[in-house]
Amino acid sequence: MHPDTVVAHFSDPAAVARYAEGPPRFVPGFADLQRMSGILLAERAPENARVLVLGAGGGLELKAFAKAQPGWSFDGVDPAGEMLKLAARTLGPLASRARLYQSYIDEAPEGPFDAAACLLTLHFLDAEERRRTAAEIRRRLKPGAPFVAAHSSFPQGEGRARWLSRYAAFAIASGADRDRVEGVRAAVDAHVNILSPEQDEAVLREAGFSDVSLFYAAFTWRGWVGYA
Ligand SMILES: C[S@@+](CC[C@H](N)C(=O)[O-])C[C@H]1O[C@@H](n2cnc3c(N)ncnc32)[C@H](O)[C@@H]1O
Repeated sequence: MHPDTVVAHFSDPAAVARYAEGPPRFVPGFADLQRMSGILLAERAPENARVLVLGAGGGLELKAFAKAQPGWSFDGVDPAGEMLKLAARTLGPLASRARLYQSYIDEAPEGPFDAAACLLTLHFLDAEERRRTAAEIRRRLKPGAPFVAAHSSFPQGEGRARWLSRYAAFAIASGADRDRVEGVRAAVDAHVNILSPEQDEAVLREAGFSDVSLFYAAFTWRGWVGYA
Protein backbone atom coordinates (compact mmCIF):
# COMPACT_ATOMS: atom_id res chain seq x y z
CA MET A 1 0.00 0.00 0.00
CA HIS A 2 1.45 3.37 -0.97
CA PRO A 3 2.34 5.48 2.11
CA ASP A 4 0.29 8.44 0.80
CA THR A 5 -2.81 6.22 0.53
CA VAL A 6 -2.40 5.02 4.11
CA VAL A 7 -1.96 8.52 5.46
CA ALA A 8 -4.92 9.76 3.36
CA HIS A 9 -7.14 7.14 5.01
CA PHE A 10 -5.98 8.14 8.49
CA SER A 11 -6.48 11.81 7.61
CA ASP A 12 -10.16 11.34 6.74
CA PRO A 13 -12.12 12.99 9.59
CA ALA A 14 -14.99 10.48 9.26
CA ALA A 15 -12.63 7.49 9.54
CA VAL A 16 -10.76 9.11 12.43
CA ALA A 17 -14.00 9.92 14.28
CA ARG A 18 -14.90 6.23 14.51
CA TYR A 19 -11.30 4.96 14.83
CA ALA A 20 -11.43 4.00 18.51
CA GLU A 21 -14.30 1.56 18.04
CA GLY A 22 -12.33 -0.43 15.45
CA PRO A 23 -9.36 -2.11 17.17
CA PRO A 24 -11.36 -3.79 19.99
CA ARG A 25 -13.64 -5.33 17.34
CA PHE A 26 -11.02 -6.32 14.76
CA VAL A 27 -8.16 -7.35 17.08
CA PRO A 28 -8.93 -10.23 19.46
CA GLY A 29 -7.79 -9.40 22.98
CA PHE A 30 -6.87 -5.83 22.02
CA ALA A 31 -6.85 -4.48 25.59
CA ASP A 32 -4.74 -7.43 26.73
CA LEU A 33 -2.35 -6.90 23.82
CA GLN A 34 -1.77 -3.36 25.06
CA ARG A 35 -1.41 -4.59 28.65
CA MET A 36 1.08 -7.32 27.67
CA SER A 37 3.04 -4.83 25.56
CA GLY A 38 3.36 -2.52 28.55
CA ILE A 39 4.48 -5.38 30.78
CA LEU A 40 7.13 -6.47 28.26
CA LEU A 41 8.48 -2.93 27.98
CA ALA A 42 8.46 -2.50 31.77
CA GLU A 43 10.57 -5.66 32.22
CA ARG A 44 13.58 -3.72 30.95
CA ALA A 45 12.60 -0.05 31.06
CA PRO A 46 13.14 2.09 34.18
CA GLU A 47 10.32 3.75 36.13
CA ASN A 48 11.11 7.09 34.48
CA ALA A 49 11.49 5.63 30.99
CA ARG A 50 11.34 7.71 27.85
CA VAL A 51 9.29 5.64 25.40
CA LEU A 52 9.04 5.99 21.61
CA VAL A 53 5.66 5.06 20.11
CA LEU A 54 5.55 4.88 16.31
CA GLY A 55 2.11 4.94 14.68
CA ALA A 56 0.87 6.64 17.84
CA GLY A 57 -2.23 8.14 16.20
CA GLY A 58 -5.45 7.63 18.10
CA GLY A 59 -3.52 7.52 21.37
CA LEU A 60 -4.95 4.22 22.55
CA GLU A 61 -1.64 2.59 23.56
CA LEU A 62 -0.23 5.92 24.77
CA LYS A 63 -3.15 6.14 27.18
CA ALA A 64 -2.84 2.49 28.29
CA PHE A 65 0.92 2.80 28.88
CA ALA A 66 0.59 6.17 30.61
CA LYS A 67 -2.02 4.85 33.02
CA ALA A 68 -0.01 1.69 33.79
CA GLN A 69 3.31 3.49 34.28
CA PRO A 70 2.93 6.91 35.96
CA GLY A 71 6.65 7.72 35.59
CA TRP A 72 6.95 7.14 31.85
CA SER A 73 6.98 9.92 29.25
CA PHE A 74 6.33 9.44 25.55
CA ASP A 75 7.35 10.61 22.13
CA GLY A 76 4.44 9.68 19.85
CA VAL A 77 5.16 9.77 16.11
CA ASP A 78 2.63 9.45 13.30
CA PRO A 79 2.36 10.97 9.80
CA ALA A 80 -1.42 11.56 10.07
CA GLY A 81 -2.24 14.86 11.78
CA GLU A 82 -5.91 13.98 12.36
CA MET A 83 -4.88 10.81 14.19
CA LEU A 84 -2.51 12.83 16.37
CA LYS A 85 -5.32 15.25 17.23
CA LEU A 86 -7.39 12.24 18.26
CA ALA A 87 -4.43 11.01 20.34
CA ALA A 88 -4.38 14.31 22.22
CA ARG A 89 -8.12 14.05 22.89
CA THR A 90 -7.80 10.41 23.96
CA LEU A 91 -5.00 11.25 26.38
CA GLY A 92 -6.87 14.16 27.96
CA PRO A 93 -4.95 15.23 31.09
CA LEU A 94 -2.28 12.57 30.39
CA ALA A 95 -1.28 14.52 27.26
CA SER A 96 1.21 16.52 29.33
CA ARG A 97 3.41 13.39 29.39
CA ALA A 98 3.46 12.93 25.62
CA ARG A 99 5.13 14.93 22.88
CA LEU A 100 3.42 14.28 19.55
CA TYR A 101 5.19 14.59 16.18
CA GLN A 102 3.54 14.53 12.78
CA SER A 103 6.18 12.62 10.85
CA TYR A 104 7.53 9.29 9.73
CA ILE A 105 10.32 7.64 11.73
CA ASP A 106 12.98 9.66 9.89
CA GLU A 107 12.09 12.96 11.59
CA ALA A 108 11.39 11.32 14.96
CA PRO A 109 13.52 12.44 17.90
CA GLU A 110 16.84 10.65 18.18
CA GLY A 111 16.32 9.58 21.79
CA PRO A 112 18.05 7.54 23.03
CA PHE A 113 14.88 5.82 24.25
CA ASP A 114 14.44 3.25 27.02
CA ALA A 115 11.73 1.37 25.10
CA ALA A 116 9.64 1.52 21.92
CA ALA A 117 6.35 0.18 20.59
CA CYS A 118 4.70 0.04 17.19
CA LEU A 119 1.17 -1.40 17.32
CA LEU A 120 -1.21 -2.12 14.42
CA THR A 121 1.00 -0.17 12.04
CA LEU A 122 3.88 -2.06 10.38
CA HIS A 123 1.53 -4.11 8.14
CA PHE A 124 1.00 -0.93 6.10
CA LEU A 125 4.67 -0.88 5.08
CA ASP A 126 6.21 -3.09 2.40
CA ALA A 127 8.96 -5.44 3.51
CA GLU A 128 11.84 -3.13 2.68
CA GLU A 129 10.28 -0.06 4.29
CA ARG A 130 9.29 -2.18 7.31
CA ARG A 131 12.90 -3.32 7.75
CA ARG A 132 14.21 0.22 7.34
CA THR A 133 11.65 1.62 9.77
CA ALA A 134 12.38 -1.07 12.37
CA ALA A 135 16.12 -0.38 12.00
CA GLU A 136 15.48 3.35 12.54
CA ILE A 137 13.56 2.50 15.72
CA ARG A 138 16.40 0.27 16.91
CA ARG A 139 18.96 2.99 16.21
CA ARG A 140 17.04 5.28 18.59
CA LEU A 141 17.03 2.77 21.47
CA LYS A 142 19.56 2.35 24.25
CA PRO A 143 21.50 -0.94 24.05
CA GLY A 144 19.32 -3.79 25.34
CA ALA A 145 16.14 -1.69 25.35
CA PRO A 146 12.91 -3.53 24.47
CA PHE A 147 10.77 -3.07 21.38
CA VAL A 148 7.25 -4.44 20.95
CA ALA A 149 5.69 -4.75 17.50
CA ALA A 150 2.23 -6.18 16.83
CA HIS A 151 0.32 -6.13 13.56
CA SER A 152 -1.46 -8.25 10.98
CA SER A 153 0.73 -11.24 10.12
CA PHE A 154 -0.48 -14.69 9.12
CA PRO A 155 0.28 -17.51 6.66
CA GLN A 156 0.19 -16.19 3.11
CA GLY A 157 -0.14 -19.54 1.31
CA GLU A 158 -3.32 -21.41 0.57
CA GLY A 159 -4.78 -20.67 4.02
CA ARG A 160 -4.77 -16.90 3.45
CA ALA A 161 -8.44 -16.59 2.43
CA ARG A 162 -9.60 -18.72 5.36
CA TRP A 163 -7.71 -16.52 7.82
CA LEU A 164 -9.20 -13.38 6.27
CA SER A 165 -12.66 -14.94 6.70
CA ARG A 166 -11.92 -15.57 10.37
CA TYR A 167 -10.68 -11.97 10.72
CA ALA A 168 -14.01 -10.76 9.30
CA ALA A 169 -16.07 -13.22 11.36
CA PHE A 170 -14.41 -12.04 14.57
CA ALA A 171 -15.27 -8.40 13.81
CA ILE A 172 -18.89 -9.25 12.97
CA ALA A 173 -19.21 -11.38 16.12
CA SER A 174 -17.81 -8.42 18.08
CA GLY A 175 -20.59 -6.15 16.85
CA ALA A 176 -19.08 -4.47 13.78
CA ASP A 177 -21.43 -3.72 10.89
CA ARG A 178 -21.39 -6.65 8.43
CA ASP A 179 -21.20 -4.52 5.27
CA ARG A 180 -18.43 -2.40 6.69
CA VAL A 181 -16.49 -5.51 7.71
CA GLU A 182 -16.76 -6.95 4.19
CA GLY A 183 -15.43 -3.65 2.83
CA VAL A 184 -12.53 -3.71 5.29
CA ARG A 185 -11.79 -7.33 4.48
CA ALA A 186 -11.67 -6.56 0.74
CA ALA A 187 -9.40 -3.55 1.35
CA VAL A 188 -7.06 -5.56 3.57
CA ASP A 189 -6.96 -8.35 1.00
CA ALA A 190 -6.22 -5.99 -1.87
CA HIS A 191 -4.00 -3.33 -0.35
CA VAL A 192 -2.35 -4.22 2.96
CA ASN A 193 1.24 -5.50 2.85
CA ILE A 194 0.75 -8.60 4.94
CA LEU A 195 3.76 -10.84 5.49
CA SER A 196 3.89 -14.29 7.04
CA PRO A 197 4.93 -14.48 10.71
CA GLU A 198 8.26 -16.00 9.63
CA GLN A 199 8.94 -13.07 7.28
CA ASP A 200 7.94 -10.54 9.94
CA GLU A 201 10.23 -12.12 12.50
CA ALA A 202 13.07 -12.07 9.96
CA VAL A 203 12.43 -8.36 9.33
CA LEU A 204 12.89 -7.63 13.04
CA ARG A 205 16.11 -9.65 13.18
CA GLU A 206 17.46 -8.02 10.02
CA ALA A 207 16.66 -4.63 11.56
CA GLY A 208 19.11 -5.56 14.33
CA PHE A 209 16.84 -6.75 17.13
CA SER A 210 18.02 -9.74 19.16
CA ASP A 211 16.16 -12.41 21.14
CA VAL A 212 13.05 -11.76 19.05
CA SER A 213 10.17 -13.80 20.40
CA LEU A 214 6.49 -14.15 19.67
CA PHE A 215 4.24 -13.24 22.60
CA TYR A 216 0.85 -12.78 20.92
CA ALA A 217 -0.98 -14.76 18.25
CA ALA A 218 -4.69 -14.28 17.58
CA PHE A 219 -6.26 -15.17 14.22
CA THR A 220 -4.56 -12.78 11.74
CA TRP A 221 -2.50 -10.90 14.34
CA ARG A 222 0.95 -11.47 15.85
CA GLY A 223 3.11 -9.59 18.34
CA TRP A 224 6.82 -9.83 19.07
CA VAL A 225 9.27 -8.45 21.58
CA GLY A 226 12.92 -7.93 20.68
CA TYR A 227 15.88 -6.06 22.14
CA ALA A 228 18.19 -3.39 20.73
C1 LIG B 1 -4.38 1.24 12.70
S1 LIG B 1 -3.64 2.72 13.25
C2 LIG B 1 -2.89 2.20 14.78
C3 LIG B 1 -2.82 3.31 15.77
C4 LIG B 1 -2.39 2.88 17.18
N1 LIG B 1 -1.03 2.37 17.19
C5 LIG B 1 -3.32 1.86 17.78
O1 LIG B 1 -2.88 0.74 18.10
O2 LIG B 1 -4.52 2.15 17.94
C6 LIG B 1 -2.19 2.88 12.20
C7 LIG B 1 -1.48 4.21 12.38
O3 LIG B 1 -0.22 4.11 11.69
C8 LIG B 1 0.03 5.36 11.07
N2 LIG B 1 1.00 5.13 9.99
C9 LIG B 1 0.79 4.81 8.72
N3 LIG B 1 1.95 4.67 8.06
C10 LIG B 1 2.93 4.91 8.96
C11 LIG B 1 4.35 4.92 8.90
N4 LIG B 1 5.00 4.65 7.77
N5 LIG B 1 5.04 5.23 10.02
C12 LIG B 1 4.37 5.49 11.16
N6 LIG B 1 3.04 5.48 11.29
C13 LIG B 1 2.33 5.21 10.19
C14 LIG B 1 -1.34 5.83 10.61
O4 LIG B 1 -1.35 7.22 10.35
C15 LIG B 1 -2.21 5.41 11.80
O5 LIG B 1 -2.31 6.43 12.74
